[in-house]
Amino acid sequence: LSAQKDGYRFFMEKEIYEQADVITDTLLGRLSVDSVIFDELDKSLFEGINEIKLCACGTSYHSALSASYMFERYSKIKTSVEVASEFRYREPIMTNDTLFIVISQSGETADTLETLKMAKKAGLKTLVICNVDNSSMVRLADSSILTRAGVEKGVASTKAFATQVTIFWMLSLYVAKLKNSLTSDEIASQIHLLREVPASVKVSDAMHEKIKRLSKRYLHGHGFFFIGRDVFYPLALEGALKLKEISYLHAEGYPSGEMKHGPIALADPELFTIALLPQHLLYEKSKSNVEELSARDSTICAISPIEFDKADDYIRTKEHAHYMLEFFEMMVAVQLLSLEISIRLGNDVDMPRNLAKSVTVE
Ligand code: G6P
Repeated sequence: LSAQKDGYRFFMEKEIYEQADVITDTLLGRLSVDSVIFDELDKSLFEGINEIKLCACGTSYHSALSASYMFERYSKIKTSVEVASEFRYREPIMTNDTLFIVISQSGETADTLETLKMAKKAGLKTLVICNVDNSSMVRLADSSILTRAGVEKGVASTKAFATQVTIFWMLSLYVAKLKNSLTSDEIASQIHLLREVPASVKVSDAMHEKIKRLSKRYLHGHGFFFIGRDVFYPLALEGALKLKEISYLHAEGYPSGEMKHGPIALADPELFTIALLPQHLLYEKSKSNVEELSARDSTICAISPIEFDKADDYIRTKEHAHYMLEFFEMMVAVQLLSLEISIRLGNDVDMPRNLAKSVTVE
């Protein structure tokens, strides 16, 4: 088995390093100069659709949250997201101008599969974003888009998430073209950026070494807050989930601007704040939220291309042309941070206690 790890310590580490390649595969044949091509989708899929509802569990739910920002910002279509286990039992209102999208690495998660059945029964059009061809969800949904992440062995999802977010960025542009919500030039320039995603997730030795070294400061404490704004809020949720899953330390993802409404009461040197500070999205606002925490003595680890003098630790990301490229590089940083903390704690990174790769029972 260790041979298959190709010299990496854990499958999760190998899968983090594979992200550039699997995103390249995910983009393959799906981009022209000024449009996104999904041969697998019928153009009529979006006809009569005024709203998108996304439903998923775990990491896939976080990619769905990131999608909601892109669908509203780029496709100008009303979008909502829900955890599948909640949606199932709350008697939701389903109208047939809604496209129902489920997201799943495995295509077998019981709660998500059930919401897909409910949507079909209610007569909604359905789409699944999935990593496993011929899985239950792919067979059931009207349409499907495969993420091409390859087999993911680590229980903590990394490369599947990366490809899901890539698909959602593409799909939001695909819809933008159908609805004319962006100009051709705007779509062309975003497609140009999409081609940069593989390079943005390529792990740099400098970053990995830095994270290995600084991880030793983060093995105790009474809690972690991963904070971000906009699409970096779902990334903060995902960073916190990764850390919980494999380090067993308490971590929460929180919107940066919401810390002052409660969590800031926890701030002291034993509270670790992992701050996502992209250059191209609400930088000043996010920075002042981090300064409030720093003034209350929280230990701050800033992830940013801009050096932040109030930070105790600093993970430098590259300068990118667009916040989505910053998103992808920061995704790698939070994945590596969880990995290195978990390894230092002596945990089995690939087989965390109490968790299963795919939850096929309720
Ligand atoms: C389990 C896994 C998570 C995963 C979730 C949803 O809880 O441990 O890593 O995100 O299921 O799985 P899916 O296959 O539906 O994406």
